[in-house]
Amino acid sequence: MSSAGILFRSPVERGRRIENEFAAAVLTGLRHHQKELPCKFFYDEEGSRLFDLICALPEYYPTRTETKLLREKADAIAGAIGENAELIEFGAGSLAKAGIVLGALKNPRAYVPIDISGDYLHGMAKKLERAFPHVPVYPVVADFTKPLKLVSTGARRVGFFPGSTIGNFTRAEALAFLRRAASLLKGGGLLIGVDLVKDPAILHAAYNDAAGVTEAFNKNILARANKELDANFDLDAFAHYAFYNPPHQRIEMHLMSMEKQKVSVAGECIAFAEGETIHTENSHKYTVEGFRELAIEAGFTPREVWSDPARLFSMHWLEA
Ligand code: AVJ
Repeated sequence: MSSAGILFRSPVERGRRIENEFAAAVLTGLRHHQKELPCKFFYDEEGSRLFDLICALPEYYPTRTETKLLREKADAIAGAIGENAELIEFGAGSLAKAGIVLGALKNPRAYVPIDISGDYLHGMAKKLERAFPHVPVYPVVADFTKPLKLVSTGARRVGFFPGSTIGNFTRAEALAFLRRAASLLKGGGLLIGVDLVKDPAILHAAYNDAAGVTEAFNKNILARANKELDANFDLDAFAHYAFYNPPHQRIEMHLMSMEKQKVSVAGECIAFAEGETIHTENSHKYTVEGFRELAIEAGFTPREVWSDPARLFSMHWLEA
């Protein structure tokens, strides 16, 4: 059957489709000259657990800086957004952050979290409904990196995209995402958290924590391939390698093969030279001005920007 002909009748079939998508992405990525794996596949149950641990690490400043920023500027942010807005979160990552915004908004009309993981989404929706009984929650199971249609509730749409997840996109992908968001949110706007360019030593530490949690997070994608794709990666034969790439203004995460070796993945033999890497993630950093220019190019009108005193992180209100 052609993939276009598949109808998703049950969660089991949906699960299988995601698994096939992982298989296809792994095989395609490992055939490239610079081997690569898409970072969205980090987040299985174990990967999500490890990411939550990363967010609490002393070296990983983004989560705590952004959360503090949201808390301290909540009234100003709510004032900029205005009343009667429907909050649409791209990736239902953080109950805590959405809760701060919803708690500050005047007359929020609905909360619409969009996420690829249905289980995670419904758990999160339940918790939010309990905390905000007067705000209806409409969870949407979808991949927000792809074109998206939402049912209109008639309220003004305000997008929420915290965590600097936009940093995972290349500039071209970020522009494409922002263009689609600008059209989806027309008449409202986008509240987006963006990590800033800074002293590379701070960046380096954030992605090379002393406890080795980021290393485990990076290697988990190989463990996942072993579990789901019948692969035989030896996790000890790969090293976590994360560095700041100044011309690209991004952290790159790689897994480096420490020896010449062959790995079997879904029946295919993949050869690694000693020192060859798999590129697993980009985490782009922006200047405040650079991000505002990108937003303008995408059709937004940048308004307020909030930042912490050390200028580690920024929160932008962009009108659509
Ligand atoms: C969730 C994409 C924002 O890039 O900082 C954390 C993921 N990777 N440590 C980031 C991540 C390694 C994180 N984002």
